[in-house]
Amino acid sequence: MKISRVNSFSGEFSPPPDKSVSHRAVFFCSIAQGKSRVSNFLFAEDPMSSVNAFRELGIDILEEGDGLIINGKGLHGLKEPRNVIDCGNSGTTMRLLTGLLSGNPFLSVLTGDSSLRKRPMSRVIEPCYAMGAYIRARDKDRYPPIAIIGKELSPIKFKMPVASAQLKSALMLASLYAKGRSEIIEPAPSRDHTERMLPSFGANVKMDGLKITVDGGTDLRAADVLVPGDISSAAFFIVAALIIKGAEIVIRDCGVNPSRTGLINVVKRMGGNITIENERTISGEPVADIICKYSPDMTAAVISGNDIPLLIDEFPIISLLASQAEGVTQIKNAEELRIKESDRLSAMTKNLAGLGVEVKELTDGMEIIGKTDLKGTNVKSFGDHRIAMTMAIAGLISSGETVIDDISSVRTSFPGFFDALSKLCG
Ligand code: S3P
Repeated sequence: MKISRVNSFSGEFSPPPDKSVSHRAVFFCSIAQGKSRVSNFLFAEDPMSSVNAFRELGIDILEEGDGLIINGKGLHGLKEPRNVIDCGNSGTTMRLLTGLLSGNPFLSVLTGDSSLRKRPMSRVIEPCYAMGAYIRARDKDRYPPIAIIGKELSPIKFKMPVASAQLKSALMLASLYAKGRSEIIEPAPSRDHTERMLPSFGANVKMDGLKITVDGGTDLRAADVLVPGDISSAAFFIVAALIIKGAEIVIRDCGVNPSRTGLINVVKRMGGNITIENERTISGEPVADIICKYSPDMTAAVISGNDIPLLIDEFPIISLLASQAEGVTQIKNAEELRIKESDRLSAMTKNLAGLGVEVKELTDGMEIIGKTDLKGTNVKSFGDHRIAMTMAIAGLISSGETVIDDISSVRTSFPGFFDALSKLCG
């Protein structure tokens, strides 16, 4: 894919439905008793991996209009899959399923594509094993494929070693099957969609600071879910508007859950022109319109500690933003970025350096020196959707041509990305 510099970027944009919320809707509706409707579902490869997994587990899921009709069979209604479950590129599908299937008394085997098979699963396997599930995985129980035989589970009191919403949600799902009350403690807040959504299905979930308690054994009942727009997909357009000369855009109906808005906090710290309007709540999730304007006078920021989980998926596009802010932006405590769909620290260091940015890769982050005029060149997506989309935005402000080697990964989260981009570029 070849991208050239643009002279304008303006208009209105509605981001695609939220990926994390779409996954969770499929999981919870499938294990609730009765018929649920998921509206504004994200029809992209990752959430479809969750849909296909539950179809393998015997759940009837119909695609209708902008969403799904799910005929849930209750906590104990899943059936042993007849085949290996392919989670594709989706870490959320695999990790949440590991927790859920730990409490289901049959054999399941989970695998995924070559990127997912390199991602560590021991963080989920170990606590599920401790709760009583029988689990084995490749390379000393560290990597997929994972084989799970669900058992009767005991509740767990668990201090999570990393702030990970996938781990937290996996353990909350396992806890639904345990006899008694489980306690899960996070080291820092991560996205809380599971905590917000599960109670609407009747689960007894309580939050107290960083501690979450879940009571096992309560049956879930069907509930409808309306999925908000995905701020992680909107992020590419937010940054494009901030860095393209004269740009101004309005992003409609975007999720602004505070556990996801780290990018907005950073943009404000950098002095970017961003405003949030028309805040409201849908299906327990805060939603708003976001207005962004070209901001030529942004300055560098330090991004570290508790910032990181709140912008974990926005790092690639934030590193591009940093190249357009005056001074040295430092990103620290972000070692988790090495085990995403690609090693995002290494991928962004290589790509930004190729475009002419002065960058330094650190073990747990990056230093980016701005402000730099970018020069188009050949860049790589590393098979990672968020790197591919970041490079497309970089191409819009680079001289000459920016050539991205492979954009097929964009289908995992934002199939309409290039169409939406061309509309705003006029
Ligand atoms: C997600 C959690 C995050 C995020 C991922 C989606 C989720 O992963 O990076 O894209 O839906 O729970 P971690 O839990 O590994 O931080």
